[in-house]
Amino acid sequence: MTTVAEPEDQQQGLQVLYTRQQIAGRVAELGEEITRDLNGEPLIMIGVLKGAAVFLADLARAVQADTTFDFIAVSSYGKGQRSSGAVKLIKDLDHPIEGKNVLIVEDILDTGITLTYLRKILQQHHPKSLRIAALLDKPARRMEKIEADYVGFSIPNLFVIGYGMDYAERYRNLPDICLMTPEHPE
Ligand code: IMP
Ligand code: MG
Repeated sequence: MTTVAEPEDQQQGLQVLYTRQQIAGRVAELGEEITRDLNGEPLIMIGVLKGAAVFLADLARAVQADTTFDFIAVSSYGKGQRSSGAVKLIKDLDHPIEGKNVLIVEDILDTGITLTYLRKILQQHHPKSLRIAALLDKPARRMEKIEADYVGFSIPNLFVIGYGMDYAERYRNLPDICLMTPEHPE
């Protein structure tokens, strides 16, 4: 008989910050807000790989609008928890966004360096509107003057994993948002 490893096993010993039910509830609310603000117009959601992939998948299904996806990738944190400070574009847009309503979908607004950079380069493509949805916001860590238009949860200076977010590329598949505790870095 084979045993299938449940994601729950991976969460053993990890402290849950937001459960999948709490996340789903908040994502539904964000979807309603975004839908309302669109006034029936179409939307292009731009996910920031890879952390925002899970959030985008859920958020897109909570938005009632003619919606397309695109993805962009930047380098920022490398393997550890610390930002290098420099942002580099690794994967550009596949489709033009000129004259379109664009929503950047990001997992965490932390120092703000990544989103400040992305907002600047996307603005150069002259979208009709450019908004930001961030699942988590860590205002205490901000180094750039930037806010998201839609925020899932505002959190203190904690390192989190799960629901798309990683530590050294691991834990992205945890269904809940968990705290990275000192005894669980490996
Ligand atoms: P910023 O440029 O400092 O705002 O960096 C934002 C990026 O850092 C996010 O897209 C995340 O990929 C990463 N990041 C920031 N805080 C965390 C965390 O607590 N867990 C996992 N990744 C994080
Ligand atoms: Mg990220």
